[in-house]
Amino acid sequence: MGQSFKALVIDQVDGKVKAGFQKLDTDQLPAGELSVDVSHSTLNYKDGLAVSGKGKIARKYPMVGGIDLAGIVTHSTSADFKSGDPVVVCGGGLSETHWGGYAEKARVPADWAVKIPAPFSPSQAMAIGTAGFTAMLAVIALERVGLKPGPHEMIVTGAAGGVGSVAVALLATLGYKLAASTGRAATHDYLKSLGATTIVAREELNKPSGRPLDSERWAGGIDSLGGETLASVLRQTRANGAVAACGLAENFALPTTVMPFILRGVALLGIDSLQWPMTQRVEVWRRLATDLKPAGIDRIGHEIGLNQLDAVLTAILKGEVTGRYVVRPTVD
Ligand SMILES: NC(=O)c1ccc[n+]([C@@H]2O[C@H](COP(=O)([O-])OP(=O)(O)OC[C@H]3O[C@@H](n4cnc5c(N)ncnc54)[C@H](OP(=O)(O)O)[C@@H]3O)[C@@H](O)[C@H]2O)c1
Repeated sequence: MGQSFKALVIDQVDGKVKAGFQKLDTDQLPAGELSVDVSHSTLNYKDGLAVSGKGKIARKYPMVGGIDLAGIVTHSTSADFKSGDPVVVCGGGLSETHWGGYAEKARVPADWAVKIPAPFSPSQAMAIGTAGFTAMLAVIALERVGLKPGPHEMIVTGAAGGVGSVAVALLATLGYKLAASTGRAATHDYLKSLGATTIVAREELNKPSGRPLDSERWAGGIDSLGGETLASVLRQTRANGAVAACGLAENFALPTTVMPFILRGVALLGIDSLQWPMTQRVEVWRRLATDLKPAGIDRIGHEIGLNQLDAVLTAILKGEVTGRYVVRPTVD
């Protein structure tokens, strides 16, 4: 027998997905070079889908939930890590094919893990999590096509959510003029505190339009909504601008024409955090530590215990979560 630990286990019973707390044993943990005492996990939209069963995320059962985790290495058979190293794992396959972060203990492949860069704590690394990592990838993708801070505003949609909040904080810290689009008036002060100078109401962007182009407004954008909103942002993006598409919180459809691309040279950049090469993740975390810094992330993250997860999972699926929730794997 190994050590027993608590976990939130997703299982399929009579064809229905159910999630509940279970006592597991470290002998049951999946294979991997790193044993980790998990100190924090987090809540992403995908976790909401996985735990509720509303999206088919787990590819086998039983599955420990939590697509992200952070903690301290307790045993390593990899030359790249040693006992005592603080590590973060975002994606990789956690909660899909491999037991995830809603547990006190985990065992993971070493090439999924990144040493948490100073000055971030494990809690701050989880306030970033997959959502914040994705926002950083969007910024890097925009930089690769030549975008830099200038006189015209960038726009972030779904701005008060996880990807959006980190995108706003990152772009503001990097010196971009910034508009944040949100559907919630209560988040305006929060978004301004992260660095947005203009607030755009969700309704200004999410209506169908018969026009192929609108007046040029945005230097570029980071979108986590898709649908009519992404189509509007593309119609309003200035010549040679670029928009990074990260999500589908509004809709997976994209009702656009080719006009923004062929008459204004606008670039639409797809972001998929899961496909980002593991070998390049250290550099993304280094950029986060440099560009975002704890000051930015501390305004975004809120800590909760595992037993408070249920309420926040329901809220994230309704689009009601502001910022990022960090989950301690203990039942308070
Ligand atoms: N490509 C990738 O690798 C990757 C990685 C992470 C996440 N994602 C995707 O990115 C999206 C956002 O993820 P997240 O973790 O940031 O989720 P989140 O925290 O729930 O944020 C989503 C935000 O979108 C807005 N929203 C929600 N429902 C909406 C609707 N029906 N119409 C218009 N706006 C709506 C809300 O922002 P306001 O209240 O400000 O309006 C909400 O806070 C999801 O689709 C997720 O699957 C993709």
